[in-house]
Amino acid sequence: MQSIKNKVVLITGGSKGIGLGIAEALVHQFAKVAITSRTQATADKAALVLNKIGKGEVIGIAADVCDPIAQQRAVEQVITKWGRLDVLIANAGLGYFGSVDTLTIEQWKKTIDTNLSGVFYSLKASVQALKESQGYIITIASLAGTNFFEGGAAYNASKFGLVGFTQAAMLDLRKFGIKVATIMPGSVATEFNAHTPSAKDAWKIQPEDIGQLVVDLLEMNPRTLPSKIEVRPSMPGGK
Ligand SMILES: NC(=O)c1ccc[n+]([C@@H]2O[C@H](COP(=O)([O-])OP(=O)(O)OC[C@H]3O[C@@H](n4cnc5c(N)ncnc54)[C@H](OP(=O)(O)O)[C@@H]3O)[C@@H](O)[C@H]2O)c1
Repeated sequence: MQSIKNKVVLITGGSKGIGLGIAEALVHQFAKVAITSRTQATADKAALVLNKIGKGEVIGIAADVCDPIAQQRAVEQVITKWGRLDVLIANAGLGYFGSVDTLTIEQWKKTIDTNLSGVFYSLKASVQALKESQGYIITIASLAGTNFFEGGAAYNASKFGLVGFTQAAMLDLRKFGIKVATIMPGSVATEFNAHTPSAKDAWKIQPEDIGQLVVDLLEMNPRTLPSKIEVRPSMPGGK
C-alpha cells in the first residue's frame, strides 16, 4: 500500500463541496494540501478549518481555473512551500442548466472555460512537477460525462469533453510515470448549482465518500490504475 503521508496535493476548488471533502480525507492521512478558490478569503477560511484537524498541513490559494497564469502561480506557490507536487485534483467546476435554445453564450463559455479548459490549464501548469514526482492527476468529471439529459447541453458538453480529455491525457502521460484518472460522480450533497445541503440529501453521495475514494486510489499499488471510475448513490432518491 502506498503511503499518503507528506504527499503534496493541489486541489482546485477546495473551499467547499467535493474538493473540501477530498482535502479533509487527505489531511487525515497527513498529506500537505493546497486548496484553491476564486477568492483568497474563502480559501483561507477553509484552510483554517482543515488545519484545526491537527494532521497534515493546508494552505489556501486564490486561483481562478479559467486563468492559465493563475494556475502556474498556484503550482509555483506549492513548490516554493513544499518543494514538490505529487497529486493534482482538478475538481473546480460549475453548472448552468437550461434548454439549449435559451442558454446564453456567456453561460456556455463559463461552463466550458471552467469545467474543461480550466482542467487543461491546471494540468499544463503542473505536468513538469508531476513528471519529476511520478505523480497522479485525478479529474472530477461526472456521470453527466456519459449520460446526457434535457437542459444539460453545456454541462454535458463540458463533462463528456472532460472524460475524453482525461482518458487521452492518461495515455499520453503514463509513459512518464504519471497516473491519470477521472472520477465520475452521480448526485453528491454539496452547494453545487446553488443547492443548500440538508438532511434530505442523506441518500446522496457525501463529499467525504469521494474523499475516501481518492485515498483508496492513491494508496493502491502503482502497478494498477483505475482510470475511469463511475460512482453513484446506491439508492437513488433514498428509495
Ligand atoms: N455535486 C454533485 O452532485 C456533482 C456530481 C458530479 C460531479 N460534480 C463535480 O464536482 C466538482 C465540484 O463540485 P461541487 O459539487 O463540490 O460544487 P460546489 O459545492 O459548488 O463547489 C465548487 C468548488 O469549485 C470552486 N470553483 C468554482 N469555479 C471556480 C473557478 N473558476 N476557479 C477556482 N475554483 C472554482 C468553488 O470555489 P469558490 O466558490 O470558493 O471560488 C468551490 O470550491 C465540479 O466539477 C462538479 O461539476 C458534482
